[in-house]
Amino acid sequence: MSLQLGRSVRYARAMTVVLEPSDAGFAEAARLLQRGEVVGLPTETVYGLAGDARRDAAVAAIYQAKGRPSDNPLIVHVESLAQVQTLVTLPPAGLALAHAFWPGPLTLVAPLRADAGLSSRVTADLSTLAVRIPAHPVARAVLSAFGGPLAAPSANPSGRISPTSAAHVLDGLSGRIAAVVDGGASPVGLESTIVNVAGPPALLRPGTITAAQIQEVLGAPLIEETQGEVLTAPGQMTSHYAPRVAVRLNAQSARPGEVLLGFGAMPCDLNLSPAGDLDEAARTLFDCLRRLDQQGRPIAVAPLPTDGVGRALNDRLQRAAAPRD
Ligand code: TXA
Ligand code: MG
Repeated sequence: MSLQLGRSVRYARAMTVVLEPSDAGFAEAARLLQRGEVVGLPTETVYGLAGDARRDAAVAAIYQAKGRPSDNPLIVHVESLAQVQTLVTLPPAGLALAHAFWPGPLTLVAPLRADAGLSSRVTADLSTLAVRIPAHPVARAVLSAFGGPLAAPSANPSGRISPTSAAHVLDGLSGRIAAVVDGGASPVGLESTIVNVAGPPALLRPGTITAAQIQEVLGAPLIEETQGEVLTAPGQMTSHYAPRVAVRLNAQSARPGEVLLGFGAMPCDLNLSPAGDLDEAARTLFDCLRRLDQQGRPIAVAPLPTDGVGRALNDRLQRAAAPRD
């Protein structure tokens, strides 16, 4: 069989095409999505695996490609606050956060509207929906060309490290998805901060928008649910974001056989940020873990500060190091 590659197509790997971040590439991505296919898309946080949030079959295809349990709900991505408000009822706290941080790396969980028109598989039949307005120009261009809400979890096989490049998406999902739009490296690098505003505002997943920044906008303390007993965000599952090899945290040096992932000026195999910059570490963490994982040796990780963005970095590292089944 011969594959006709259009001008928007950069190359194809096992029938997953890599699309250019051009008008032709965005139009092709939108055409595939309109057909009910799933497509990898860059966002500012990590790459998402997008499908039409209104179509059962497209949403089912997302779960299928990722091997994701169907009771773990998806985030819906839209272009504007007006679109958000057709999907959820935003209480005042949610509106304040929306104005402060959207478009950007924040996800709000809010009561789902009865007339939202989404596939019930998106929310796994919950009465709330996770929604966000991404800032990445490629995500925005594809949303605009597509013209509807896109469900998109991170574009990795369930339980593995989130992708921050098109190559990462192909590593996990090549041949299982129609296409990925190559928008280069994700500029933030960690998944969005998730805040539940369906009740008293609660932090469900830390991210680069910090709890302190959110509390400043709310003018009130944020409930911390990330360590809670109740699994309100399955991103809270302990073994998540996991490399294949073992991970040991707060290591001052490598033990025999280990590779060392450093932070700040220190001798090591790979460094998250030689300058000791937490935003840089957020951008590089997942790529570093993937590269070290390929060496097949256990990974030791230097201590990272726990304040500011360090909280989200330590959260992801703890999940990477958590015992696995
Ligand atoms: O940055 C991000 O958020 C990326 C990009 C692609 O937008 N997406 C992402 O999606 O990280 P995912 O599916 O890997 O993580 C979404 C998290 C999951 O832990 C899911 O359980 C939780 O959000 N979630 C989704 N809907 C929810 C809801 N209604 N209530 C509570 N948690 C929810
Ligand atoms: Mg994920």
